[in-house]
This record gives sequence, C-alpha cells and structure tokens, in this order.
Amino acid sequence: MIIERQEQVTDAVLSAMAETADPRLKEIMEALVRHLHAFAREVRLTEPEWEKAIEYAVGLGQFTNDTHNEAVLASDAVGLSTLVCLLNNGNGGNTETAAALLGPFWRMHSPRTENGGSILRSETPGATLVASCLVRDGKGQPIAGAEVDVWQASPIGMYENQDESQADMNLRGKFVTGADGRFAFTSVKPAGYPVPTHGVVGRMLEAQNRHPYRPAHIHFLIYKPGFKTLITQVFVDDDKHLESDAVFGVTRSLIGDFARDGDGYTLDYTFVMEPGEAVLPVPPIK
Ligand code: BEZ
Ligand code: FE
Repeated sequence: MIIERQEQVTDAVLSAMAETADPRLKEIMEALVRHLHAFAREVRLTEPEWEKAIEYAVGLGQFTNDTHNEAVLASDAVGLSTLVCLLNNGNGGNTETAAALLGPFWRMHSPRTENGGSILRSETPGATLVASCLVRDGKGQPIAGAEVDVWQASPIGMYENQDESQADMNLRGKFVTGADGRFAFTSVKPAGYPVPTHGVVGRMLEAQNRHPYRPAHIHFLIYKPGFKTLITQVFVDDDKHLESDAVFGVTRSLIGDFARDGDGYTLDYTFVMEPGEAVLPVPPIK
C-alpha cells in the first residue's frame, strides 16, 4: 500500500505480515508492531531519540559475550524477565508462585554434596548459615529424589567465578531430596551485590537515578521429572534493598526467614513445585 499519512503506517505493516504461516509468530509480531507504533505515537518519538534507542539496542549486542548477556540484563532491569516468569508460573499468573529469575550465574555440574553438607570449597569468612529445606507438591506431598542446585554470592557479594580468592565451585552444590522431600546444607550468609553496570544497562540505571544492587539471596534450581523445573531465589529478610531490587526479583513468598542462632543464622524454607515438564535452561556460563 502507498502510505499517505502517519496513521496508515501501522496497517501497512500489519498487512505486509498477514501471510505469516506460524499463527503464534503472527500473533506476537502483530501485537508487537501495534504496541511499538502506539508507543512512538504516545511519546511523539523524535528522530534523535530513535537514533539513541538504536544505539542502545546495538549496545545490547556489543556488551554481550560468552560470560555476560547484556540483553537479558536489560530485560531484567525493566522488569520484563520477572513479568514473563510470573505470567508462566503460579497457575498461569493467577496464584502465588515460588518461581523467580535464573540470573546469569548458574553453572551446570555443581559438586554433588551429601544432605546436610557444606557448600564451602575454600575458606569463606562470614556468618554461618544452616539451611533446612522441604520440597513438596501443591497437595503437601513431599517430593523425594528431586535434584537441587544451590548457588550464592559470598559475604562480600561475589560469585566464585568473579572472585579469584574463591575456589572453583565455591558456594555451589547439588543435593538430592530424601524420602521426606528434605535437603539441607551449611554455608555462609550471602551479601547483596550490584548487577554489571559496564554496559548500556548501567547507563540506563544511572540516567534513571537507580542503584544497581540486588538484595542478598540464594539461588535454587529444582529438577524432578513430572514437575516444572523450579528456578528460584530466596532473599535475606534483613537486606536494605529488598524493596528496590535492581531486577525486580523479590516477591513476598521468596523472602526467607533468616533467624539468628548464636553467631550464625538458620533458614527454613519450603519449595512448592507445580506439575509440568522438567526442562533445564541453557546455562548462561559454563
Ligand atoms: C542474579 O541474581 O544472579 C542476577 C540476576 C539478574 C541480573 C544479575 C544477576
Ligand atoms: Fe544472584
């Protein structure tokens, strides 16, 4: 179609895409174009602003490499990752869910650790943490034989692969739940840390006067055939950034009860798995 006025551009694009064979792709792309065009009209996007947006999109690629994905970070920092997670868990976004962002630091092949064992692989100063966890289904039945990956940052807010002073696989472990659905481990209380700010996302956070911190948390990935793989994080309840996580990962049910016990802490937490397909994500790092 020959375009005569700005109002016609949207219809021109939608009709050009009308023959898309895959119905889901058609639905997604049509909605994307409609919303994108409506957005440009709403803010009356100027040409210099559009050029800046393109520069930003190019930056997402330029700052992405084998160990860092700036596009995922951008999605995290505008809440899209959490929104997609919440839309796809908790009974299609209708009920509370135990799911949360995977984040960029999961590694496959965490060291298999006996139930109750330590995930410290090198000396790691900090307050001790004893975690006792239950994995159950929605009806309250324990799930035995679930594989649980645990990973966390150190008490100075660094994952082992960011910190030369930590041994390979420090603060990572793989557990298997017992017949009672329980697993336990000892560790140190993690600290919060900033998300990477060396790229375009860092520039965005700065321009928006936002801090880059995530509240302290422990990641869990729970795998058991017959259940949707549960990827989640449990947050330390005394962290000052709980209400302002740079990537919007904190939901009420994910705030753990880190109870003081002498010089250390205990955590008791229950994970509820939903029925579904047990698929593992692609690891962001090796
Ligand atoms: C993390 O929790 O590991 C994380 C999540 C999103 C962005 C950066 C880090
Ligand atoms: Fe993390």
